[in-house]
Amino acid sequence: MNNGDKTIKAGVMGWPVSHSLSPRLHGYWLKTYGINGTYEAMAVNPDAFAQVLKDLSGKGFAGVNVTVPHKEAALAAVDTSEAEAIRTGAVNTIVVRPDGTLLGRNTDVYGFMKNLESSYPNLPLEQGPAVVLGAGGAARAVCTSLIDGGVAELRLVNRTLSRAEALADHIGGPIKIYSWKERDLALEDVLLLVNATSLGMGGGTTLEMNLTRLPPEAVVNDIVYTPLETPLLRAAAKRGNPVVDGLGMLLHQARPGFAAWFGVEPEVTRGLRSWMLKGLPG
Ligand code: ATR
Repeated sequence: MNNGDKTIKAGVMGWPVSHSLSPRLHGYWLKTYGINGTYEAMAVNPDAFAQVLKDLSGKGFAGVNVTVPHKEAALAAVDTSEAEAIRTGAVNTIVVRPDGTLLGRNTDVYGFMKNLESSYPNLPLEQGPAVVLGAGGAARAVCTSLIDGGVAELRLVNRTLSRAEALADHIGGPIKIYSWKERDLALEDVLLLVNATSLGMGGGTTLEMNLTRLPPEAVVNDIVYTPLETPLLRAAAKRGNPVVDGLGMLLHQARPGFAAWFGVEPEVTRGLRSWMLKGLPG
């Protein structure tokens, strides 16, 4: 696409932001589609965040992604938010509208389901339970996505019970809460197991889980992607369960933002995946 002399500007705001893979991802698409655009990493201190957002329109930005620690602050700072953002309590994508006002979106909800569907398009979620581990921001997006996808029952497991209760109260739907000790028992009869905690991330604590009760056909999805094959995915694959890694969610969540800012619906391709794999730490 040739948008003439006008360079379309977007970026990602975080604090710190140097670890973000979004510039690599959007940079690939800008090049692939021949777009006259930029996507820059922007280190924004939490104290300055609201003001920097207000200045986006004046500085000619089409929009931005926001990452840790700004996702909740972004929900409060934008002019309007989409339903998914309100339900998850977080905004990860901001679109500057023609009148200069800011629209907040949460595209993790879309990214999670697209990634799952691209590997297993016929998972009959309405026919069985799914287990989600975690009750942080990522888990909120996963739960919203599964409930919107019509899951029959969502077994929510988290170390801190009060956070699981707060999530269930906020999102609603067929959520049953299990304690962290009960996580192995919760696997009985499930179609899907999702790790939405930070456990298993390179160098950190490993997720201790006994998969004996997990049905052999249940899909196991880890949203952690460093390493790409987490100990959970390795153990699941070893016993023959289908597995979905976390990189796809990162790639798919980026699509709606790119489309809104740059006017092209980008594809998640093998070429993109291998480009991103080369950029992963470790
Ligand atoms: P994010 O926004 O990425 O989801 P978060 O809000 O910090 O990050 O959430 C991290 C999740 O990993 C939480 O569910 C957390 O459990 P708590 O709510 O009990 O804190 C979970 N988690 C992190 N370390 C853990 C550990 N050692 N054992 C069990 N759960 C852990």
